[in-house]
Amino acid sequence: MKTISGFSKLSKEEKIHWLSSQFEDQSQTLIHDLKNFWHHDQSIQKKFDEFSENTISNFNLPFGVAPNFLINGKIYAAPMVIEESSVVAAASLSAKFWLERGGFKANVISTTKVGQVHFLWQGEKSKLIDFFQMIKPKLIDSVEHLTKNMAQRGGGITSLELIDQTHKLENYWQLKLEANTCDAMGANFINSILEELARVLKHKISSYDKFSNSEKELNVIMCILSNYTPDCLVEVSVECPVEELGEVGGLPARVFAQRFVTAVEIARIDQSRAVTHNKGIMNGVDAVVLATGNDFRAIEACAHAYAARDGQYRSLSKASLVDDLFKFTLTIPLAVGTTGGLTSLHPVAKASLAILKNPNSTELMMVIASVGLAQNFGAVRSLVTTGIQKGHMKLHLLNILNQLGATIEQREIVKEYFSDKIVSFTEVRNFLNSLNHSQ
Ligand code: MEV
Repeated sequence: MKTISGFSKLSKEEKIHWLSSQFEDQSQTLIHDLKNFWHHDQSIQKKFDEFSENTISNFNLPFGVAPNFLINGKIYAAPMVIEESSVVAAASLSAKFWLERGGFKANVISTTKVGQVHFLWQGEKSKLIDFFQMIKPKLIDSVEHLTKNMAQRGGGITSLELIDQTHKLENYWQLKLEANTCDAMGANFINSILEELARVLKHKISSYDKFSNSEKELNVIMCILSNYTPDCLVEVSVECPVEELGEVGGLPARVFAQRFVTAVEIARIDQSRAVTHNKGIMNGVDAVVLATGNDFRAIEACAHAYAARDGQYRSLSKASLVDDLFKFTLTIPLAVGTTGGLTSLHPVAKASLAILKNPNSTELMMVIASVGLAQNFGAVRSLVTTGIQKGHMKLHLLNILNQLGATIEQREIVKEYFSDKIVSFTEVRNFLNSLNHSQ
């Protein structure tokens, strides 16, 4: 691959042309594949092009729906964007299972978003602490032009603290901002406030006559929201008397429940299992986060930091069987929005929110957490009963058949043949070849 300067200045056609010129024999295929996914409606395509930079095509992912989610007495169909087979099917199955057993009970514990100004300052600590207390109201007033609209919606700055971090890094201090950003994820809101606060703080320190010359120097390193939002937290549970679980995957209710609780306990104490367990939760969480145009990287980063909050990475969910009551709970930080950003720009994200009947951000937190719990229930249920491969294999086989371009008749024969066998690409290809030869 050659290097190039000024790539971003090229038109989309020129970018594709340059790229394809790097692949002599495959260049026509590459051009075809990239252009094949351009949207036929130019105004929609333009929108997509402008979401990011150097865009040359679109990357499609399946958009599915898991119906029958009963959450706090209301029925939802959860929009899910995910490429992994079995995930939507498992979510739907779990939703139906709990629909008949009282549904999901969700509760938003807190909705605090966080931002930090990281700066270096050297001097007599108590002087900075006193100075900060003195000017704190003025600092907050100084960003009123940025917070006024949010305040009208009931949000704004809820706390501003000076934090001494000099024991961790020489001269390192923080301004820690907490905010209620209502239905917005709030990244732009928080970052704008932080930069303004830093500017004002620096100015005020430099002109305060009780500081020595060196104390008048404040070195702002960076201003940025924190994606660690342990106080933007939602909890969701399902529960029922153990016998109401019925026979699950061929196991009597109580045996199933005990195996299930043990499996979740293993994910609490064993890090290697915990990561996979939580990955199952994130299969559901990310799919809805993505479908609704929210930032799945932020959600992932935060969820995993939260899972390790006591120093060991653990399961985000817990299960119990006490007094014949089976209970399964997920507690997860979810800083999501339902206005602003991609949620309002992406036509399919808008459709997802419409499918959810345009929830506010707290309602969306509850839906996302419920889908995460449903997903986790589905995965652990399979693991402690039939094993995970049985369900996976059906869809895996379908994907392979699609890849190999099997006809409708061949599909039926292949499905029947593999109903009691292990599916692999090679085995399916060989079997299809043998069918082709015998026809
Ligand atoms: C696969 O995407 C997710 C699972 O591995 C989750 C789990 O093991 O709990 C099935």
